[in-house]
Amino acid sequence: MKLLSLKKAMDLKGKTAIVTGGAMGIGYGIANRLAEAGANIVVADFNKEAGEAAAQKLAGEGYKAVFVKTDVSDEKQVQGAVNFAVNTFGTVDILVNNAGIYPLAPVMQMPLATFEKVVSVNLKSVFLFTKAVAEVMIKRGTGGKIINISSVDALHPSSVGLAVYDASKHGVWGFTKNTALELAPHNIQINAIAPGAIATPGAGAGAPMSPAMEVLHNQFMEKIPMKRLGEPDEIGKVALFLASDLSSYMTGAQVVVDGGVLLS
Ligand code: NAI
Repeated sequence: MKLLSLKKAMDLKGKTAIVTGGAMGIGYGIANRLAEAGANIVVADFNKEAGEAAAQKLAGEGYKAVFVKTDVSDEKQVQGAVNFAVNTFGTVDILVNNAGIYPLAPVMQMPLATFEKVVSVNLKSVFLFTKAVAEVMIKRGTGGKIINISSVDALHPSSVGLAVYDASKHGVWGFTKNTALELAPHNIQINAIAPGAIATPGAGAGAPMSPAMEVLHNQFMEKIPMKRLGEPDEIGKVALFLASDLSSYMTGAQVVVDGGVLLS
């Protein structure tokens, strides 16, 4: 097998990537690295203002990026986002299923509507986007890469109050493995990234903390062997690895990026 140069192996020029929830946080960190590697970026997010700002910021760096308002839990909107990507850039080569929510609520206090929302946004969305994008990839016959953002909670609970979130992320991990099997014959590689605690707007990064929250935060920090939160870019760099030829023989794997927290 002829060795590709490292530069070529990381090169995503001419490829198109959809990043769900790409307006901020981990999604933006991923979009930024894929864009830097040359990919056309489609930010699919339901926050119009932040999504447009994210696409503009990437475009300001000289990258190709567009925004499409999408609720990832809505079948019609997901199909619309995939059609938009194909109409804008010709095809989809990379899909990053990143959008997710993590409301902290013990099961005994959780209404059914919240259960349904968490499962819809975190798991149903992965089914909808995978199906719509894989259809494009299969028709085109050139394969592709799908990256699902799960969580360390797909392996081990991080906190009481996240039971339904954990169920949804276990679901994402199971779905990753089985779709990797189903779609390998079409040269579609499907892997997951399981982040630990990453400093994002959703996780309250930059927001003021009450004294009680600060105590909890410090206790949590103690449990992280690397003694710090991760940055969205630290997920972005691993996503670039999984989106590029650097991961040419990987499918159905889950890469844990957690500063060692699963060990403690
Ligand atoms: P965030 O809340 O900072 O950003 C999430 C983005 O997704 C926002 O732009 C939001 O508008 C968008 N979004 C939410 N619901 C949506 C929907 N229904 N349709 C379209 N877009 C929607 O979140 P963060 O922290 O960046 O998390 C991203 C992913 O990483 C999630 O799947 C989360 O479960 C996962 N994760 C995050 C960790 C963390 O510590 N931040 C740890 C482990 C996993």
